[in-house]
Amino acid sequence: MNSLSQKLRPLDGSSSQPLYQQLQRSLRDAIDRRLLSPDDALPPERDLASELSVSRITVRKAIDGLVTEGLLVRRQGSGTFVCARVEKNFSKLTSFSEDMRARGRTPRSVWLRRAEGTVTPEEALSLRSSPGTPVYRFHRIRFADDAPMAVEYSTVLASCLPSLEAVESSLYEALEKSGNRPVRALQRLRAMLFSAEQAKLLRANERDAGLLVERLGFLKDGSAVEFSQSWYRGDTYDFVAELSAPT
Ligand code: GLP
Repeated sequence: MNSLSQKLRPLDGSSSQPLYQQLQRSLRDAIDRRLLSPDDALPPERDLASELSVSRITVRKAIDGLVTEGLLVRRQGSGTFVCARVEKNFSKLTSFSEDMRARGRTPRSVWLRRAEGTVTPEEALSLRSSPGTPVYRFHRIRFADDAPMAVEYSTVLASCLPSLEAVESSLYEALEKSGNRPVRALQRLRAMLFSAEQAKLLRANERDAGLLVERLGFLKDGSAVEFSQSWYRGDTYDFVAELSAPT
């Protein structure tokens, strides 16, 4: 018999740590140690509860937490599965929505702000535009299924979109429709610790490790179209680059 309970560290009813937290920790541990692999299905909550001799509420609470952390995903009608960490190939100029769909995840955003304005001195430098140039600002929390992955602040030259409302679920889709999707980009990565505000938006803890990704996107004619700063949760995202030897 190779049931899930045999792969999990036993729960201790006499411990001061609540059972759901213990179960969460042992599931997290089993995922980290690859005793549970990406796309493995978890048994139904009722079966898991009886296997482990705990209540269904305990199991549900433990799973809810891991879904929020992005380690598990609930797929309607088919159950709960172990998520693959999202691997982002560096050499392709793809959008968040495309990256998530390519991995079988559903992209979703919560809007924080959508506004018209003019470039700040800092943006003017990055976007290589003159002071006073009209821009649109899009601030979003980006989700993969139910798991928050990043907080993203994008500034786009207003001349590249027909209106502020043109962006629905995907910025690149809107830019593509207007013939202004970037074809080249400079990208910079920096490790950082989340501030209290960022942590709250991403359901993480203050001072958890994160990754700041800045992208400056260019059109074919070499002019800049987009400057975005994305704060990714460090625990759900892997950036992967394929390297070849110099010729
Ligand atoms: C990634 C990039 C951003 C870009 C975004 C567009 O997150 N780092 O620079 O703005 O994709 O994503 P979407 O088209 O899903 O809005």
